[in-house]
Amino acid sequence: MDMRQSLAVLLSLLLLSSLAPAGAQQQPPPQPPPPQEPEFRVPVRVERVTTPLVVRDARGEFIYDLAREEVTLLDNGVPQQLRSFELATQPVSVVVLVDTAQRVKPLLDRVREVGILITSNILGQFGEAALLTFDSFVTRRQEFTSDAEEFLRAFERIPAGGTESRLAAVRGGLGPRATTQVVDGAEETSVRALFAATGVFDHLVIALGGGGAVGPFAELEEARLRAAFDRKFWPFMLVARHGAARIRAGGSITFITGAAARRVIPRMSGIAAVNGAIEAMIRPLARELAPTRVNAVSPGLIDTPYWHGMPAEQREAMFAQTARGLAVRRVGRPQEVADAILFLVTNGFTTGTVIECDGGVGLV
Ligand SMILES: NC(=O)c1ccc[n+]([C@@H]2O[C@H](COP(=O)([O-])OP(=O)(O)OC[C@H]3O[C@@H](n4cnc5c(N)ncnc54)[C@H](OP(=O)(O)O)[C@@H]3O)[C@@H](O)[C@H]2O)c1
Repeated sequence: MDMRQSLAVLLSLLLLSSLAPAGAQQQPPPQPPPPQEPEFRVPVRVERVTTPLVVRDARGEFIYDLAREEVTLLDNGVPQQLRSFELATQPVSVVVLVDTAQRVKPLLDRVREVGILITSNILGQFGEAALLTFDSFVTRRQEFTSDAEEFLRAFERIPAGGTESRLAAVRGGLGPRATTQVVDGAEETSVRALFAATGVFDHLVIALGGGGAVGPFAELEEARLRAAFDRKFWPFMLVARHGAARIRAGGSITFITGAAARRVIPRMSGIAAVNGAIEAMIRPLARELAPTRVNAVSPGLIDTPYWHGMPAEQREAMFAQTARGLAVRRVGRPQEVADAILFLVTNGFTTGTVIECDGGVGLV
């Protein structure tokens, strides 16, 4: 068996078992109790299990010449039959991916402790590892290194994802008027529970998710397009549907869509489809949900943390190139989208519209 494969399996197991309780910590608040999901049990007969094994001597040195007769594998105390046994001593290159999104935050301290297992049990003397983290974007935390100390330092400093610090800033700025709650917009039970706990309110702005499904149409596989709909269209639908019934008369729903839906941008047909599907609902909803107003802001390229996963140099070059094609000659700022949202929320005579806040895409 390929040692890299076995290490990848071991690493996945390590991380998955560390992260497994995350869902449990993210259960929606108990009021009202969410409907119980039926429990499914699927009996599976496992014919063969591959078990990577790392063995050291009393001094902590790796043992490279272990013999098959010296190995006993127990499963719940029961000796297992070894059908094949291979030694691999070639150095490995491992990329470690750590999810730092809000839902994993309670477990991050435990995840940080796994670093030592990676350096001591997997890298050994000659291996190398790189570290990436991801929440709504991917960040490179450590280039490939064979220096265990360097890797461990990066691993122990894995920061929590962006959402928590942004929400803390909101609470800090608005004081007791603001309450925040993290909910997975793609998960209907949680969305339903959120609105049940919130009660009636005035305005709903839906700005989550986005991205993906960008590239030439010929290379746009169905799975990628479906994933892009899963990330944005369906959560928007769920949040709007469960939120709409609790909006007070005179209130509003504002969707944040994207310039690809209305402007003509090659290689963006996928993302145009996702945002276009949301925009297609605005006018029928504005009529059906009246007097609740329904609108959208359609942003062009805005300098938000969405782009921070890209190396800074590459990002700046992409921003500069995009800016040259815009009437206003620069990319947008989050405040400018916020201003457009504020207009739609506060102007009680505007409904069924989309504000294009995109610096003039296609006007040059
Ligand atoms: N920035 C642009 O250039 C641009 C251009 C056109 C349109 N837009 C649209 O504008 C909206 C906001 O984009 P942005 O640039 O602010 O993106 P962002 O910085 O990546 O923020 C997106 C936020 O959505 C959250 N999120 C993602 N999936 C979620 C889910 N299933 N449930 C709950 N929260 C979820 C993320 O939380 P985590 O961090 O925890 O993952 C993150 O806080 C998106 O709909 C995007 O398509 C942006």
